[in-house]
Parts: sequence; C-alpha cells; structure tokens
Amino acid sequence: MSETEIVYLHGRRVWDSRGRPTVEVELMLSGGAVGRAIAPAGASTGAAEAHDLRDGGETFGGFDVARAVANVNGHIAAALLGHDAADQAALDATLIRLDGTEAKEKLGANATLAVSMAAAHATAGAAGVPLYRHLGGEEAGMLPLPQIQIFGGGAHAGRRMDIQDVLVTCPGARSFAEALDWTAEVYRAAGDLMQAAGKLHGVADEGGWWPAFDTNEQALEMTVRAIDKAGFEPGQEIALALDIAATGFHRNGRYALGLEGRELDSAGMIALLAGWIDRYPIVSVEDPLAEDDWDGFAAFTRAVGERVQVVGDDALVTHAGRIREAARRHAGNAVLIKPNQRGTLTETHEAWQVAKQLGYGGIVSARSGETEDTTIVHLAVGWGIGQIKVGAMARGERTAKWNEALRIEEAMGPRARFAGAAAIARRRG
Ligand code: PGA
Ligand code: ZN
Repeated sequence: MSETEIVYLHGRRVWDSRGRPTVEVELMLSGGAVGRAIAPAGASTGAAEAHDLRDGGETFGGFDVARAVANVNGHIAAALLGHDAADQAALDATLIRLDGTEAKEKLGANATLAVSMAAAHATAGAAGVPLYRHLGGEEAGMLPLPQIQIFGGGAHAGRRMDIQDVLVTCPGARSFAEALDWTAEVYRAAGDLMQAAGKLHGVADEGGWWPAFDTNEQALEMTVRAIDKAGFEPGQEIALALDIAATGFHRNGRYALGLEGRELDSAGMIALLAGWIDRYPIVSVEDPLAEDDWDGFAAFTRAVGERVQVVGDDALVTHAGRIREAARRHAGNAVLIKPNQRGTLTETHEAWQVAKQLGYGGIVSARSGETEDTTIVHLAVGWGIGQIKVGAMARGERTAKWNEALRIEEAMGPRARFAGAAAIARRRG
C-alpha cells in the first residue's frame, strides 16, 4: 500500500485573530504522516472571491463555521478517505467536483482550502521534506521581499482612515532577515513618533499602529519620518507600499474619503495617488481603484505603471480568468495571491502561473483574519513568488509567518537567495 493514502480526515472549529471561528483540518496518511492547516478570513473582501461559508444567525455574530466543519467531516471525508494525498491536482479536482459551484458555495472555500493545504503538509511530511521543498523541488530557494505594515486603516481600523495599509518594503536589504531587522527599527520609530505626538492608541487588525491622523497623507508623512528616524534612506534602502483598498470607500461611483470629508471621481482618485507617488518614495500601490472600476485601474496603470508596481487584489481574487482579463485591459502589473480567494492550492497555483506568463509580478498575502498557520510562507518560497505581505511586526498571527520565513532562510544556508529589489522591478515600459 502507498504511504500517502488518506486514512483519517478531521475538521474542527478553531479561532482566528479577530476572535471569530474558523476551520482547521487535520489529516493522516497511511504511512503515518500528519498534516494540519487552518483557513484565514478577509474583511475587505472582493465580490468574486470564493465563498467563506458561515452559519449566520446569532451565535458568534453569524460567523460560526459549524456547516463548513460538518462538510469536512461529512461529504469531503467520505470522498477523500482512501484518496492519494500526494496527487494534489486530483485531490483538488475532487473537491471542486464535489462542490460543483464556481465560488465553492456548497462546501465553503474555508472547508476546501483547509483540506487542500492539510493534504500538502501531510504529503511533504511523508516525503520528509519541508513544504516549500515539496512544492518547489530542489530549485526552491528564493525568499520573498516582504511588504510590512506600519499603519493599518480602512476596514481593519474602524475606518479611522480611508486607506487600508501603509507598508514599507526594503529593496536595499540583502536578506529576508535584514529586511525584518530594518523594518523592526522603522516600526518602533513610528510608535515612538506617535507616542510623542500623543497619538499612540494601540494597533489595528494586522498589527500596524492605529491611524490617529487628520488626513490620509499624514500616514505617509509619518512613515517617511519613521524611516528617517530609524537611520535609513527613504526610497533607496526602505520604500513605501500602499494598499488603498479603494473598494471599501467606493459608493455610487464616487470615492468617499470620510476622514477628509470629500468625494472624488475616478480621475480625481488617480490624480490624488499620482501626487503621492510624486511626493513620497512609493514603489507599490494595491487596489488604487474599486474592484468594478476596471477603466480607472487601466488609466492608473497607464499613468504610473512604469514607475510603480500596480497590484490587483479585490478585482482579480487569485482567479486565472480574471487575471487574463486584467492583462487584456492592461490593468495593473502585479497580482495579490491569496489561497482562500480560490479555495484550493491547485487553483491558487494556476492563478500565479497565469500571472507570471503574462508578465505580472506576485505578492502572496495573508488575510486580516489570521491564525498561526504558516502555509503561505511555503507557497511564496516553493512557487518562487517574489513578494509577501502578512501585516505588521506585531501580533502572533503575523510574526508566525515572518518567523517561519526566517527559519527557512536559515535552514537553506548559503543556498538561500533573496528576491530583493528585483522583485519589484518594473514589468512594463
Ligand atoms: P483582507 O485585507 O484580508 O481584509 O481582505 C487584506 C488585503 O486587502 O490585502
Ligand atoms: Zn488588498
């Protein structure tokens, strides 16, 4: 008998970083290897994401996952017991067929993703190799350039500011570990500056400082001051990255900046962001326009796509077909890769492959609702996705990922390569 046949498959309810239930799956293979994985959950989700199945009703604000867990222990276990976990494509195809809907509405993408990832972990365990090696083979050896949050906003901070993430990235660093060293100093400097200004009020959902500002631009200013105070050269060594998450404040075709009491149309939004790109050392902008504003996305890319990375998240939802559509419209030049936006590893990998073929860059990303699960770090290294974004250097569900990447870099020793500045080199022009 093979060593990788699934002999035990179990779903359970565990908790995420917002105190909400989520799905964990544990499975065991015939050879004794065990794999375990937990599904994350977004707050500023794209409309076309795979379905995060929740029970509704009163319990836990409607966020309970009893049905998704029951699907794992019922239909999914019945279909997969005896299945070869090592054939990820066949296993994921079975999940897709069993669900039968485009958005995994029946089983829940939280259920299917946890199963899909747990199977990969178990198979890697059976082979006695780390997951990134199982996914990427002997060549896998590139640590991603991290985008690390300094201030959180939008849906992750009670809409205290409109834009969602002000992050830094370290194109000047020579290793993943060095990028974290530098960012830790910047994060701390930003906290000191907020403290001195009487504006330190804890952290947002992804660990970035709470955004106590009068305008959105002040968050950019403060981050540049923090880079400077930490002793680094803004732009050269450490640069800014933004996730505008513009879908979150797009109403009736207008962009409503609640913090600033004004509304912009698509062209106004593009002008605002282009002004920031002129005045601040910004190298990457995610979701500058709303998910249904494809023309705006394309216009923004035409305007600044040769100077900065333009990243699609809400509109592209880790979906190969949508990434092709974006390329056809020349919208963006990089994509966010979030496994739970699709619900299986195979489809997530397909989205990345398509993006790469079309010349798009990639950033593997956590969700705002996270756990100690570190699977995405292994996807970034194993699949050679050049960048990663998991929040700030605070909160255990964030540091779990950063620390896993440090372990991988150390374990690879001299074979480790760092994606560095090349990861955000312009893809157009
Ligand atoms: P989310 O935020 O997980 O709440 O969607 C992350 C992001 O927008 O990149
Ligand atoms: Zn985003």
